Amino acid sequence: MTYENILVETQGKVGLIRLNRPKALNALNDQLMDELGDALVKFDADADIGCIVLTGSEKAFAAGADIGGMAKFTYMDVFKGEYITRNWEQIRNVRKPVIAAVAGFALGGGCELAMMCDFIIAADNAKFGQPEIKLGIIPGAGGTQRLPRAVSKSKAMDMCLTARMMDAGEAERAGLVSRVVPMDRLLAEAMEAATVIASMSLPSVMMIKESVNRAYESTLAEGIQYERRMFYSTFATEDQKEGMQAFMEKRLPVFKNL
Ligand code: CAA
Repeated sequence: MTYENILVETQGKVGLIRLNRPKALNALNDQLMDELGDALVKFDADADIGCIVLTGSEKAFAAGADIGGMAKFTYMDVFKGEYITRNWEQIRNVRKPVIAAVAGFALGGGCELAMMCDFIIAADNAKFGQPEIKLGIIPGAGGTQRLPRAVSKSKAMDMCLTARMMDAGEAERAGLVSRVVPMDRLLAEAMEAATVIASMSLPSVMMIKESVNRAYESTLAEGIQYERRMFYSTFATEDQKEGMQAFMEKRLPVFKNL
């Protein structure tokens, strides 16, 4: 697949995907989401990649689903699942961590896309919002579900019902983003975090991702049980032997992802 709406590169063991529809503030259309899904699947399958960073431009991570593209849709167009969000959950199938590096606007589907990633690093100019209500619709890619889990029911209601934007500081205080950095440090910081993750044992990385995600979808008791099973299974890996041996020998571990 050739990409017209995203730019893809690798830096060491990190796969970097940039949303690239600058004239439309990276508004998310079907074609872009197909390309994004394709790039994510390829990085996920690439044994040389340990972590993925998804970013946009300085002005916009993404200003939402493409309004022009969906303005004329009928109920049956969207119900049949051929348009809007049909391919959006692809990112959830990716087993390696995906970090969202967000600068500028992350609105509507842009905020939802960032929340589908495993964690968000925000530039100090980032603005998050679910302004769909101003268009006579509601969030359609997880905004009413992931936002309350990330920032509490009260703040999610406030944002979805009033359409107000949350700045980077508020987003960090509310727990939506893991850290806020100066704009000019955003990509470097995200790439550094991704490089650290990619240096770890991939089985551990993937098990942590699965286990933390399980916290959202199960009771505490089930989640604890799941984590324990995952924890036990790390003792079947060569990397566990290497990691502990290296600690005892006071050297850095050399993980083989086995
Ligand atoms: N879809 C399509 N085009 C968009 C867009 C979107 N979501 N957001 C911005 N653009 C386009 C604008 O139409 C404009 O194009 P032209 O230059 O051709 O006119 C260009 O990007 C620049 O935008 P503005 O001139 O509006 O820039 P601004 O700096 O004045 O404002 C903004 C920026 C506040 C982000 C404003 O563009 C805006 O409010 N955008 C829409 C945000 C929105 O409502 N998002 C939700 C979409 S619905 C959705 O996402 C559904 C879902 O849950 C799946």
